[in-house]
Amino acid sequence: GGARPRLAFLGTGYLGATYAICFAELGYEVLGFDVDEAKIAKLAGGAVPFHEPGLDELLRRNLAAGRLRFTTSYKETADFADVHFICVGTPQRADGMGADLVYVEAAVTGLAQHLTRKALIVGKSTVPVGTAEWIEQLVGKHAPADLGVEVAWSPEFLQEGFAVEDVLRPNRIVIGVKTEWANAMLYAAHKGVFDLAATEDREVPLVVTDFATAELVKVAANAFLATKISFINAMAEVCEVAGGDVTQLARAIGYDPRIGNRFLQAGVGFGGGCLPKDIRAFQARAQELGAGEALRFLHEVDLINLRRRTRVLTLAAELLDRRSGPAGPDLSGTRIAVLGATFKPNSDDVRDAPSLAVAGLLAKAGADVRVYDPEGMENARIAQPDLTYEPSMADAVRGADLVCVLTEWADFRNADPNAIGELVAARRVIDGRNCLDASLWTHAGWEYRGMGRPERTIRH
Ligand code: UDX
Repeated sequence: GGARPRLAFLGTGYLGATYAICFAELGYEVLGFDVDEAKIAKLAGGAVPFHEPGLDELLRRNLAAGRLRFTTSYKETADFADVHFICVGTPQRADGMGADLVYVEAAVTGLAQHLTRKALIVGKSTVPVGTAEWIEQLVGKHAPADLGVEVAWSPEFLQEGFAVEDVLRPNRIVIGVKTEWANAMLYAAHKGVFDLAATEDREVPLVVTDFATAELVKVAANAFLATKISFINAMAEVCEVAGGDVTQLARAIGYDPRIGNRFLQAGVGFGGGCLPKDIRAFQARAQELGAGEALRFLHEVDLINLRRRTRVLTLAAELLDRRSGPAGPDLSGTRIAVLGATFKPNSDDVRDAPSLAVAGLLAKAGADVRVYDPEGMENARIAQPDLTYEPSMADAVRGADLVCVLTEWADFRNADPNAIGELVAARRVIDGRNCLDASLWTHAGWEYRGMGRPERTIRH
């Protein structure tokens, strides 16, 4: 009867751990699996091994309630769950383009061979289209043939910093299935989400589709978001030569509801563990399938995004009155404060962070670069050990000839330009996220440069 299926999440990284914890919170009995003993021990002990607001509390509450457990045993996982979500990582391949499916393969085969009853294996990791069919073949090879184990696909759309909300209150659920049984099972596995919505007088749209579409939805959504950001950054480039202000342009076009005002923030561009990697893998896959031309524009999206990083370097040289040689500008003898190391605020994630990339470019040009970030220092030190890190914003800006704000943390947005001005050697600032109050900084005597904005002079 209406009993809820038991759920397993294989791979307790960012994705799997968040889902496991949130679905326990929705009332499901949940098991989290990982091959990494240390990670499992940490989670079982009530500690989330990454930074995500609200998750620690939910983890401890659901461990205590007995709805949530963790294991490193495939056998235990196979015995426990009716629905198994594959949430392992799909890193960028060594060739830089496609996605590496070794972890997916290991999880599916490890699980399948221990299954003793009919179960549903659901892909959730971001993968090249066609992976669900491939998993079906793997399952056919490794699961006992008489069980009738089935496969389905259900992409996730988590944003770091909002992941708990995105799981509990998603703006849609997409499932790719081949049979009525899989459809009913996956519906039951999400019933908690629909029930919660009903109690809050909301509706969560459900899209039931085929494998290929379900897989494509995820990469298509990320490709669209990346394109939107690069579109506004391309407009920033044009504004820079035409003397326009991209922040006002974005506001003006954003009032058209067909365009919308979100994800139109020009700056140093997108980074993180998803958008850059996903648009490259998507292009590679389309090429393999013979539709490379259809996604050629994503190459431009990537290039526009990367050009924003060099733009900061050029702006820095301009502000510091340094000429560019054939090898780019020479910034030796200058001291530059870089505020921000994470790819976005309220995160400790520095993967593909534009801020760190820019810090690297400035250092390579000879500047004495001092980096500070409220949450990302530990990860930044590992990712870019050659840079100099300072323990506070004040330490980073002290004696600086130029301050670059490259991640829009509230600490930086709300910083007092006069107080900061007392510490620096010269009042010059590059607002790489257009997040500062330009007139406030200008009035405090700073030479201010935004991204895609005209030079500001004080008007009386
Ligand atoms: C993204 C997608 O939003 C999410 O749906 C998907 O599941 C995973 O990838 P995330 O990587 O957490 O999520 O970050 P997001 O908030 O989307 O920001 C990505 C990058 O774009 C950040 O570096 C951010 O600074 C940048 N960005 C975002 C802009 O430069 N301008 C904008 O207007 C919006």
